[in-house]
Amino acid sequence: MKYGHFDDKEYEYVITNYNTPLPWINYFGQDGFFSLMSNTCGGYMFYKDAKLRRITRFRYNNVPRDYGGRYYYINDNGTIWNPGFLPMKTKLDSYKCRHGLGYSIFESEKNDLKCELLCFVPLKDLCEINQLTLKNNSKETKKVTLHGVIEWCLWNAVDDQTNFQRNWNIGEVEVDDKTIYHKTEYRERRDHYAFYHTNIKHDGFDSDLDTFIGLYNSWCDPNAVKNTTSYNTVASGWAPIAAHMFNLELKPGEEKTVIFQTGYVENPEDEKFEKLHVINKKRAYELQAKYDTKEKVLKAFEELKTKWVNLLSTLHVESDNDKFDRMVNIWNQYQCMVTFNMSRSASYYESGTGRGMGFRDSCQDLLGFLHLIPEKSRERIKDIASIQFEDGSTYHQYQPLTKRGNADIGGGFNDDPLWLIAAVSQYIKETGDYSILNDPTPFNNKEGSEKPLIDHLRASLNYIITHKGPHGLPLIGRADWNDCLNLNCFSKTPGESFQTASNFESGKAESVFIAGMFVLYGKEFATILKNIGLDAESSDILKEVKSVEDATIKYGWDGEWFVRAYDAFSNKVGSHECEDGQIFVEPQGFCTMARIGEDLGFGKKALDSVEKILTNDYGVEILHPCYKEYHIELGEVSSYPMGYKENGSVFCHNNPWIVIANTVIGNNERAFDVYKRNCPAYLEEVSEIHKTEPFVYSQTIAGRDAKNYGEAKNSWLTGTASWTMYAASQAILGIKPDYDGLMIDPHLPKEIKHASVTRVFRGVKYNITINNNATGKYEMLVENNKVDGKVIPFEKSSKLINVIVNI
Ligand code: BGC
Ligand code: NOJ
Repeated sequence: MKYGHFDDKEYEYVITNYNTPLPWINYFGQDGFFSLMSNTCGGYMFYKDAKLRRITRFRYNNVPRDYGGRYYYINDNGTIWNPGFLPMKTKLDSYKCRHGLGYSIFESEKNDLKCELLCFVPLKDLCEINQLTLKNNSKETKKVTLHGVIEWCLWNAVDDQTNFQRNWNIGEVEVDDKTIYHKTEYRERRDHYAFYHTNIKHDGFDSDLDTFIGLYNSWCDPNAVKNTTSYNTVASGWAPIAAHMFNLELKPGEEKTVIFQTGYVENPEDEKFEKLHVINKKRAYELQAKYDTKEKVLKAFEELKTKWVNLLSTLHVESDNDKFDRMVNIWNQYQCMVTFNMSRSASYYESGTGRGMGFRDSCQDLLGFLHLIPEKSRERIKDIASIQFEDGSTYHQYQPLTKRGNADIGGGFNDDPLWLIAAVSQYIKETGDYSILNDPTPFNNKEGSEKPLIDHLRASLNYIITHKGPHGLPLIGRADWNDCLNLNCFSKTPGESFQTASNFESGKAESVFIAGMFVLYGKEFATILKNIGLDAESSDILKEVKSVEDATIKYGWDGEWFVRAYDAFSNKVGSHECEDGQIFVEPQGFCTMARIGEDLGFGKKALDSVEKILTNDYGVEILHPCYKEYHIELGEVSSYPMGYKENGSVFCHNNPWIVIANTVIGNNERAFDVYKRNCPAYLEEVSEIHKTEPFVYSQTIAGRDAKNYGEAKNSWLTGTASWTMYAASQAILGIKPDYDGLMIDPHLPKEIKHASVTRVFRGVKYNITINNNATGKYEMLVENNKVDGKVIPFEKSSKLINVIVNI
């Protein structure tokens, strides 16, 4: 069943049934002010850091699930409704929620009164605009009361939900006839405040939650709204909110617009106050004046749309497969941008308080999407590398506001260092700019410890080289990519974090997955070294690669697939010898991509096993059979009920590895088959089973052993976005940035006979036509001239370069 449809022309998904199986959300913002917006107008806003600088309140675990947002109540002659259905839940005569790129538009109608609500964060300013237009489509004059309301968060989202003995005393606001300013803690150490402003004077306001709603009411029957009034409360302690009320008279055919703006302002220390207890609002006034007319809002909205159209034109495909095109051109790239901005911090499944920016996550987020924002990627690489230690190990996360390593989690995830090589090599391939290797980058953010970035890459590899186990395979540490394979954890204490506890440091547990990574990214680093003339160092690295490759062939192969790991007692994990967890997907993907045991047919066999044992209707499950019991020696992986999360769901993140690996061994049909199985556009028709948004990837889809087989969870913030983008563009379409130019190496399935791709690469625009004649023969013509090999040698040019590839 569908709950809406794609509108590819507008780059939108249009939800027409508000009873979606889960909240379907969207994101706004690019550089500091970020918002989450659900299809019922729910969600929240924050500045840079969803934990430390939360602007509006959202209660996770709420009933109903999606409560807290920017709510517009329309009281039309006693019928009270909201354009996003919640909180009133009044049945609407018509409803549309258009989730677009960085904006959402609600179009709703009730009793011949139409409401259009345009919501977005403008490109250049720290605010969210909600432009609300009411139109009277009836033949009678309507007198309507409109309330717009948001609820402030007291900045630190964790304290806000826990420290009530303090919180209920500190809330402070200032109010004038158009604006409610939220200034909790501004009198002391904060230099920032927020405001909720309207472009016309309100007819009343409230800033105290309990009065606005009534202590024994809820958001679906607030006193102020029911009584078409406001109480003009100035909050003092308790829960400060911002509510504006308007009495609007609309003649037949008439429309009226109110522009609501939630803004964030910082003042320098010596400019904080106008006078005692009164905030200096100069910057707020400037920001308010920028969006006080429909024309100004429209202009900012057009700028946002144009930015996205231009950005996405960097890579655009037109093939004979609409769903593939839609994902590659619009939604997959868009999701990559959101994961780049949010890492794994703020979604409807990530509270924004637990995790900051992940080292491995943020490195991987760059892979699929570096082509869109190479400069920002370079900055990001530097931020990430700066939380690495001199021995090559790394903090696992950092907070975006402070950019400091997160000491609560610490380090010890032994895959982390290698992801840095993945990110940096991708950067060089995309930009051709090796100078990044010289960027002075500190270790653990210590002043004076700066070394050229290349030394960080050396440290990364060296860490693995110096941390090997009894089989010559890399030690796993607390976990590798699979955060739940905790082979040194041995936890018996309920609630103890599997990621940070190490109750039995064996110094023995090894990861075949990290071995695959080491071989893949070790070779990559060796190539970089060779390209910059460091031949001797390059061949030294290749020797190290060879030794890990040999160890993997000897100890990492189980006969029909790659072993996953060796535990603290050197027993195999992910082998036919095990009772459960006989095969894991991760090493099958990575070791095949790294071509380990290629001559021996390992990759082919491993991928056949993946198809036979792990593949279900929705993709490839992470392991099989699921663990039935808790295994103290394996950790969190065995803690999940069967078929969920790391215990046997389709963990979407590693599905693209299988897609790519299949293209490496030339199995194009199977690559595309895996691609389609969990591609959101292909699952739109079964939204009632899949449940999450049909336009973005989710982290997991419950596996065959789960009670709710096929149900997805944790949409939006997942490495699946980036890796699938990589798989679709670089493996299936085969448009691969390489050191010396753009490589075109398509692996199209039979069902895509033709694809025409525009790709801007290092400032040059290529028009690439791929004809899939299924001949098995490769031919490339650049500007009608036959070129040997698969790489278009790079030359700067302002002309459009036409390329034809026949396969
Ligand atoms: C989850 C993992 C996640 C980890 C992060 C675990 O509970 O299952 O997917 O990466 O927490 O801390
Ligand atoms: C989600 C985490 O963000 C990611 O880093 C990890 O690789 C996967 N879970 C698998 O455990």
